[in-house]
Amino acid sequence: MIATMEPPHSTTQSHAYEYHAPVLPQEVLEALLPAEGKLFVDCTLGGGGHSELLLNAGASVVGLDQDPNAVEYASARLSVFARQFRAVRSNFGEVRSVLAGLGIEAVDGFLLDLGVSSHQLDTAARGFSFQADGPLDMRMNPQGPVTAADLVNTAGASQLERIFKEYGEEPQARRIAARLVKDRLVRPFRTTLELAAAVEAVSPRRGRTHPATKVFQGLRIAVNRELEVLEQVLEHLGGLLNPGGRLAVITFHSLEDRIVKQAFLRRSTPTLDRPEWTGPRENPECIFRKITTKPLVAKELEQRVNPRSRSAKLRVVERLGLPHRLARC
Ligand SMILES: C[S@@+](CC[C@H](N)C(=O)[O-])C[C@H]1O[C@@H](n2cnc3c(N)ncnc32)[C@H](O)[C@@H]1O
Repeated sequence: MIATMEPPHSTTQSHAYEYHAPVLPQEVLEALLPAEGKLFVDCTLGGGGHSELLLNAGASVVGLDQDPNAVEYASARLSVFARQFRAVRSNFGEVRSVLAGLGIEAVDGFLLDLGVSSHQLDTAARGFSFQADGPLDMRMNPQGPVTAADLVNTAGASQLERIFKEYGEEPQARRIAARLVKDRLVRPFRTTLELAAAVEAVSPRRGRTHPATKVFQGLRIAVNRELEVLEQVLEHLGGLLNPGGRLAVITFHSLEDRIVKQAFLRRSTPTLDRPEWTGPRENPECIFRKITTKPLVAKELEQRVNPRSRSAKLRVVERLGLPHRLARC
């Protein structure tokens, strides 16, 4: 079931961030340089907070989200910008065909603010959180083919172990997977709290972090194929940017950040060298120049007001204006 939420009637601050407070707002504006006449794609629309910042600066925005609830909410919230804004329900992995369908060849910037929104996390019925009981779902797109319950109840022990280890970086991955496979013979897992309790039985609570945190992260990433989609989309966003256009990506954990860092490095390195070559050669994949050498993180005040911002990292690149053969990175 899709949880709905009344959108505010205006975009005033008091209502603005009920759904999700955008992280690094000032840094995103400085990264994307929105202005009248420019067109941006907000690939992760959520509650529309970042889109609103771009719209307020006079830019036009196409907002994508695979969650129909986010599209509905943000569309209502940003309805005052009707002439500048349109929202499309889509996975951002489909951004190329979405833009082609709208007759758009290239844009001035893309924003990806990865992961789930606060609203998704806080809605027990979506099954993302171990803080409240809900169905073990975790799909951002409620029509996605696989739920977390499907994985927990049907995947083999080694597949579960891999999900917890690779996507959750959970040190107890093997023991937890074995326990789940045993327990599900008695009764399949149906709810978030059932899963959280089983994980806690294997890996008791130490410190402030809930022992199921990493298992939930791993499952969510697997259910939504988050890393595969991210890797794929980073391959073709550069080709959809106007010269001088910017690509800004906000990540929330090291797995995502590593993918973004490596993709940006590979595409912003002007020359390559190998021991077997006589000298450096031009990198045919170099289409960007780095705007951030190190990721930008939230300032102390933002971290205090919006704890979610504590793990946010923003990396930004700019599409080179000249054919890469002539351009200097
Ligand atoms: C962190 S929230 C974005 C919040 C937004 N920037 C704001 O200011 O409200 C991430 C949103 O991206 C969506 N999302 C995540 N991965 C997606 C994907 N591959 N395709 C489309 N939407 C995605 C989620 O459904 C969620 O609504």
